[in-house]
Formats: sequence, structure tokens, C-alpha cells
Amino acid sequence: MSLTVVNEISKVRELVKQYKKEGKTIALVPTMGCLHDGHKSLMEKAHSIADITIISVFVNPIQFCPGEDYDKYPRTLDADKIVAQHAGVDVIFAPSVNEMYPNLQKFSDLTMVVPPYELTDIMCGKSRLGHFDGVETVVSKLFNIVQPDYACFGMKDIQQLFLIKKMVRDLNFPVEIVPCPLVREASGLALSSRNKYLSDSQKTIALTISKSLFAIRDMFKAGIKDTKKLFDTGLTNLDKNVELEYLEFVDKDSFKQVAEIKSTTICAMAARVGNVRLIDNVVLEV
Ligand code: PAF
Repeated sequence: MSLTVVNEISKVRELVKQYKKEGKTIALVPTMGCLHDGHKSLMEKAHSIADITIISVFVNPIQFCPGEDYDKYPRTLDADKIVAQHAGVDVIFAPSVNEMYPNLQKFSDLTMVVPPYELTDIMCGKSRLGHFDGVETVVSKLFNIVQPDYACFGMKDIQQLFLIKKMVRDLNFPVEIVPCPLVREASGLALSSRNKYLSDSQKTIALTISKSLFAIRDMFKAGIKDTKKLFDTGLTNLDKNVELEYLEFVDKDSFKQVAEIKSTTICAMAARVGNVRLIDNVVLEV
């Protein structure tokens, strides 16, 4: 099947209606474009589990905080079409901001989906105020527009994945969330659209983020369960030019902070190299 690109909600709804009439299942991969191999693995997963793969390409303004990179976020739709086609995508839904939020100038008028405060007052939510309100709102809209049977999300954005799974349970969205493994460069650097902003020397510095997480994982495997000691190991392995935002240990199922690791735990980091904010994590399996 060839790739169809649609910009209007009404058009994607028409396609979805037809697919459903034909008894086809749909998998959605929500993205902000600038597709890389991490997205490719999500699209391939979607293609392997459903009859139809739809991706959204939309740089969602309401999940960026003031001063963040909304304006300069890479928009590469022509290149994205090629990547998507190779990954077996059937439809790209690439709406304009006006199509998704016709009344955005009156932001306070927008109905939002807001995750519980205690789950956003940690990790990325703590420094990116309102970020997950924007994510959950746009993902809810996409679920309502595309009505997918499956939706694939990457484990790099581990807090996002956790909150979306909870939102789907709490609000009874009839969709199965499919978590997909984090994808890394051969060097260990977690793939991200924001890696494009890094110079070669910054990339070398950024590599110490995954190096530090791997060192923590190795120490954990060697029997250290005290997260204070693991934290210190992480710090020791970070380049001094990496500005640490957080290095947290949270229980995989509750996202509550952990002092002593007794159950499977996510060790997650956010850090800045220059102006570039990067996130990464490893799972400490018990
Ligand atoms: O992970 C992302 O790229 C975005 O947060 C998402 C899920 C596409 C919502 O805009």
C-alpha cells in the first residue's frame, strides 16, 4: 500500500472509517517528526501488530514550556515521509496547529487532560511545568481522532509512557499501549531528535550520560542496592560539562522514589549539554 499524507482531521477520520468498515486494525505512532531509528522501530512494531499503521507528525505547542525549543524544533516532513514509507507506514497525519487547536490564542479556554500532580512533580514534570498536561491532551485528541487499536510509545520517554498508560486506564480509552525499547547509537547515546543540536564535541560529552547509567547498572548487577551509592557512581562517570537536572530511581510500577532497590526500578536521568536537554534511562531488573 502506498503512503497517504493527510493534514485535516476530517480526512483522517474518513480513512479510519473506511479501514474499520473493512475490519482492519489500526496502530498509531504519535510523533513530533524528525524521524530517526528510534521512531523507525516504533513504526515497524506498529506495522507488525496491525493491518494499518498511522503516524502523527505534529510539533505540539502546548507541551513546550516558555523558553523551550518549540520554534527551533526540527521540522523535516519531506525526509519523514521517506523514513515512514520504508517502515511500512500507511498514513501520515500531519495537522497544522490551527487544525488541532483552532482557538489556541485563548489557551485558557482549552479543555486539558491533566495527570495527577504527585506523578508530575518528579523527574521531567518538575522542570517542565505543564509539559505532561500538553502531552496527555494531544495524545487524547489523537486517540479520539484516529481511534487506534494499538498505540506505540518508546521507553526513552519513560515518564511519558507511564503517564499515558495510566491515562488510558483511568479514562477508559479503548486502546492497547505498546511499549517499545529505547534505541541507542552504537556509541550508547540514546536516539533523540534533539541529538541534531549537538556538535561533535558536545556529543562526546553527552556520551557520558549513557556511560554513567551503564555504570550504575553494572554496580547494581554486582549487588549494590543502595540508590545513594548508585547515584554517586552515576555522578563520578558524568563529564563535568554535563549539567545534571535529575538522576532518579523510581519503582517501575508506582513511579515512587526508591532508597533501597527491592523491585524492578527505573534509573532515569535528564541533563543538559550546552543548551541541549537530553534524557535517558536504564531498567534495573529484580
Ligand atoms: O514523545 C513525543 O514525541 C511527544 O511527546 C508525543 C507523544 C508525540 C506527543 O506530542
